Amino acid sequence: MPPLWTIPAASFQWEGCDLEALDLPFSACNSTAMNTLAHTAAVPSAMHGRDRNRAVIRAWLYAVALVIFALIVVGGATRLTESGLSITEWKPIHGVVPPLSAAEWQEEFDLYRQIPQYQQINRGMSLDEFKTIYWWEWAHRFLARSVGVVFALPLAFFWLTGRLEPFLKPRLLAILALGALQGGIGWWMVASGLSVRTDVSQYRLATHLTLACVIFAAIIWVARGLAPPRYEAPPSRASTPVAGLILLLTFVQIYLGGLVAGLNAGMTFNTWPLMDGAWIPSGLLTMQPAWRNFFENVMTVQFVHRIGAYTLFTVVALHAVFSLLEAPAGRQTKVALILCFLVLAQAAIGIMTLLLAVPIGWGLAHQAGGVAVLAMAVVHLRSLRGEYPERYRLAGA
Ligand code: HEM
Repeated sequence: MPPLWTIPAASFQWEGCDLEALDLPFSACNSTAMNTLAHTAAVPSAMHGRDRNRAVIRAWLYAVALVIFALIVVGGATRLTESGLSITEWKPIHGVVPPLSAAEWQEEFDLYRQIPQYQQINRGMSLDEFKTIYWWEWAHRFLARSVGVVFALPLAFFWLTGRLEPFLKPRLLAILALGALQGGIGWWMVASGLSVRTDVSQYRLATHLTLACVIFAAIIWVARGLAPPRYEAPPSRASTPVAGLILLLTFVQIYLGGLVAGLNAGMTFNTWPLMDGAWIPSGLLTMQPAWRNFFENVMTVQFVHRIGAYTLFTVVALHAVFSLLEAPAGRQTKVALILCFLVLAQAAIGIMTLLLAVPIGWGLAHQAGGVAVLAMAVVHLRSLRGEYPERYRLAGA
């Protein structure tokens, strides 16, 4: 006799498909004799199983997001301590083992001594000083590998034990693919600083940072979607598109921040609110063709990052005010207010970072703050769109 929690394949549908197609463990029963009994007993049980699976998968995704957050912060520390070029080879598997003997350390140091950064900036650096920058870069790469493991192994387990609802599979596979791509982009970025330049390309650094944030946001998006449904109508018809715009502006602002960081543009024009003594400094478009200024001109890049912050704050603040007027006690209004506060705090940290010419602590706080703003922008849009729906329904119901 099959256990009571098995579900007759015909009893449930998944958005029009038979549950049998779902390859969930509880879809295996074909016993006609048990159908009626299972039909009634299995519904709450399957729902319960689904909810439990969702809770476990959600917890796992939050844990992955936390490790990615740490990875982004360590990546920032690696950049701010100028450690990012200390490992001059890409060994995705073997690179997990750091140098273990004096000879191996010397070998790594010799490789570093061949690149322009050592020859033009760090000439005369001692082996002990080299070890310090090496450990930052190693820790960053080690954490990146750990994210791969912490994501891929549970994914395989959930998949093989039938715990993944079908709609999750392509989403999680896409995130895995983005993670692999990010490893390649990380090396593409490092490679830009090994032959001619003494640092990495700001284009590549901004791409690496932005893709890290896309992966982080995608994980939070899926995880929030698996929360128990608590759908509440948006305060107004404009709420959801505006929340989408806020998320887009946040990504643009993070990309611009990556350009500022990559160009060390925070070490110049260290005044606020004026820049070079003016609201709109002269010299914004000195390069030809003009588009290059937006990626390569230190002044323009910093200026655009400031304008991006003012734009983001204006949109977020107006959105919070309108949400408050339209649904004062709404859950989404609370999220909009928290988001507004976070953007304000992030702008204040950005200003301090600039005024103090990027001390490591402020630089890291600003980077972490950018990720916190992003997380809240994702949560905000997700709560307006609602959680993933109850996908089970009784056939013919
Ligand atoms: C309010 C929204 C803002 C967001 C989301 C944001 C985000 C970011 C991000 C992600 C970075 C890259 C950090 C890194 O890779 O190390 C960055 C860099 C930077 N931002 Fe912002 N920022 C904001 C506002 C501001 C403001 C208002 C200022 C100053 C007026 C500012 C000044 C800077 C500076 C100086 C850097 C370079 C720091 C470094 O070299 O490490 N930011 N920003």
